[in-house]
This record gives sequence, structure tokens and C-alpha cells, in this order.
Amino acid sequence: MAFQALRGTTDLLGDGLRRWSAVEHAVRRLARVAGYREVRTPVIEDAALFLRSVGETSDIIQKEMFRFEDRGGHDIVLRPEGTASVVRAYLEHNLHKTEGFVKLVYLGPMFRAERPQAGRFRQFHQYGVEAIGSSSPWVDVDVITLCVTILQELGITDVTLWIASMGCRDDQRRSAEALRARLAPERDKLCKECQSRFDKNVFRVLDCKNPACRATAWKSKASPFLLCDACTAHFDQVRQGLRQAGVAFDDTQVFARGLDYYTRTVFEVRAAGLGAQDAVAAGGRYDHLVEDLGGPSLGAVGFAAGIERVLMAQEKGSAAANGAPPRAGFYLALAQPALAGEGFKLIQQLRAKGVTAQMDYDGKSLKAQLREADKMGCRLVAVLGENEIKQGTITLKDLEQGAQETLQLSALVDRMSQQLKAACH
Ligand code: HAM
Repeated sequence: MAFQALRGTTDLLGDGLRRWSAVEHAVRRLARVAGYREVRTPVIEDAALFLRSVGETSDIIQKEMFRFEDRGGHDIVLRPEGTASVVRAYLEHNLHKTEGFVKLVYLGPMFRAERPQAGRFRQFHQYGVEAIGSSSPWVDVDVITLCVTILQELGITDVTLWIASMGCRDDQRRSAEALRARLAPERDKLCKECQSRFDKNVFRVLDCKNPACRATAWKSKASPFLLCDACTAHFDQVRQGLRQAGVAFDDTQVFARGLDYYTRTVFEVRAAGLGAQDAVAAGGRYDHLVEDLGGPSLGAVGFAAGIERVLMAQEKGSAAANGAPPRAGFYLALAQPALAGEGFKLIQQLRAKGVTAQMDYDGKSLKAQLREADKMGCRLVAVLGENEIKQGTITLKDLEQGAQETLQLSALVDRMSQQLKAACH
């Protein structure tokens, strides 16, 4: 039997990959403009990094980690998310000493052993940012604005931004007590796992995947988070900043984030038409994580978006994303296979100018070569034969516009590099 990609994983190729690359390109460009520098961290990490950050009672740690012992007996995981790795790298490279406040962007695969379904994969891909070293509410605004701007740039405009505040650690202790008191009479209605989460980390009941637990936990429509004056003021400033930045939000929804490190601002961006897995991006502030991972006490905030979900939202929302890609590049057809050497020289000159240029290497008939050029989505085609070489001219056909023109062979490279460079990828 032929091999297949594992459940919950996908191959990327063809038009799917083209759209994927366009997302990565937009993320890098917009993040750079907003002052974020790229960071790349390994896919494997010490398991303890996530136990200490994401939290032992979270679903990610309890059920979803790809965790194994390596030959040396080290407890290793395929990273389930990027935040903990980025903070580890920040501390490992002493950025807290050399730079203090840093804004970082990352893209890459993450792994969670979840039950695969539409929009939920085992190897999925995130782009995200982490701004580490400041507690200013303006940094929350900076991060949230970038999150929304990237989606807008990608044509995903039918979105809702939910924001809330989970308060500081003291607030969370008070909130946990209040939630426990409220849930105590209904404790036996909760699933087995939530029974044990009840004492260890009652907030995890709020995002249990069991609908009955969630219904019990969210019976009261009020936010379970009680805020002190400082956290209320911080949240007010975030909202005020978002209004000034022209970012629309909904602060009336109550929702829970499934990772333990959050304090104060949390947010999720939901896109229309994605069904149950409609969170395209999510994030928040994590003012204790740097310290919990062995560094100084520094505030930080970030978000991550799932690229697969972003692409699904693009498909739902924009006809442009579904259309055929624009024609691009040049195809040199050979009238005789013996001209392969001359042809390849020309192709090389074009490539050196940044023009996507291709030719046939299999001695196909002229008709078959033209069919191939069309299938490859090339924009311009020319046929090189003995006559062209003798006369020093060549005829260029534009497959998009249907036009054709004859020009000097010696002028072809310059002409093409002007015409096609912008459209090539
Ligand atoms: P998260 O909510 O676990 O947060 O994931 C962020 C996004 O990754 C989700 O909104 C979703 O689009 C995507 N995602 C998560 N799991 C899957 C999956 N199994 N299949 C497909 N897409 C998925 C975090 O990961 C935090 N590190 C975000 C953050 C950054 N908070 C602060 N900084």
C-alpha cells in the first residue's frame, strides 16, 4: 500500500503553497514595518518548558503533547506553541540584559495530538509575535493592532475581536475562589477531569472540551474574572488605545484561554464561516512568564494565528483567493531539441535578471511544449528555432492578453526583465 501523510498532517504544494507563501510574506512585511524582528526556535524542546508555562492542568499538557524520551533519557516534546520557546530564547540569549524590550515575530509548525477535524490539525502552523519587556497597555494595542492589520491585508475582514482582562495573579486567586464557590454545588455534574481540575486550576473547567462542563461553568454570563483597580485601569487604557487606533472590538463576551500563563489582557479573533474552530488568532499578556522561566520580572504580550485557519477564512471571505493565480514567467519552446544548449543559455540570462524562466528538457513536440507552458501558468512564450538564431529575432506571445510581437533576440533579456520581474515569484 502506498504511504500517506499521517492523520492531522498535510502536504503543501501547488496553488495551496502559493497562497501559504503569500501569507508568510505579508506577515514578515507587516511585522517588520511595525518593528518586529524574526526569531526561529527549534521544533523540539525540553518538556519541562511547557509544563512550567502552558500549565500542567491544561489540555495541551495533559492530552495533546507529542512527548518522547530521547536515547539519552531526556524528556522531549514537539513544541505545542511558540510563546514559551520565544521567552526561553529571549533569556538564553540574554536579550533581557542587552536589549530589554524586544519585539519578535515567528512562523513555523506547532504540534498538538488533538482529534483532527476541519480547522484542527496535529501539525499546524502559526505566525505570531511576542513583545517582551514592557507592561504598557500601548504594547497590547501595538500587538492587537498588528494582529488585525495582517488579517485585513490578507482580505479577512469579516472578523470579530473579543477582548477581556483576566486580571493579575492576585485577582486570579480571588477569581478562582469565587468560581470554586459558585461551582461547588454543581461539582458532581462536571466530568472526571474537571473534578480534579476543580481544586488544582478551576479556570480550566471554563475551557473544557466537554459541553456539559462548559455549560455549568458559564451558567453565569458575567466574567469570572474580578479585577483590582490597577488591572481595571490597564484594561481601560487598552480599550481606549484600540479605539484611538480605529480597531473595533467586543468586550462583552466571556471566554477562556486554554493556557495558564495569561494575566490581564486576553483576546481572540474569530472569523465568519469557519464553524466550530473559528478562532483564527489569539493571544494576550503574560506578565509572569519571563520570571517563571528564570528571568527577571518583565511584562510581555503576544498573539499567534493558525495559518491553516487564516487560509480557510480567506477562502470563505474572498473570491480573489479562490481564483486562478495570475500568469507569470516565461517559457522558451524549442523548435529543435538540438537547440537545448542555446536555449538554456538564454534561460540562464533571464534567471540572472530575476525572471522566472523555464524550458523543456525532454525533446517534446512544439505543440506539447506550448501545452506545458499553458499548464505551468506562464505568461510569455517564445519559440527558438534555427531561423530565430540566423535572423537574430524572436516572437513573444503573451498568453494572458493574446498579443504577440517580434523583437531582437539581443533585446529579449532586458525587455523581459522589465516586463515580468514584478509578476514573478
Ligand atoms: P492558541 O489559542 O493555543 O494560543 O493558538 C493560537 C491559534 O493557533 C489558534 O487561534 C488557532 O488559529 C491556531 N491553532 C491552535 N491549535 C490548532 C490546531 N490544532 N490546528 C490548527 N490551528 C490551531 C497560542 O498558541 C499562544 N501561544 C498564543 C500567544 C502568543 N499568546 C501570547 N503570545
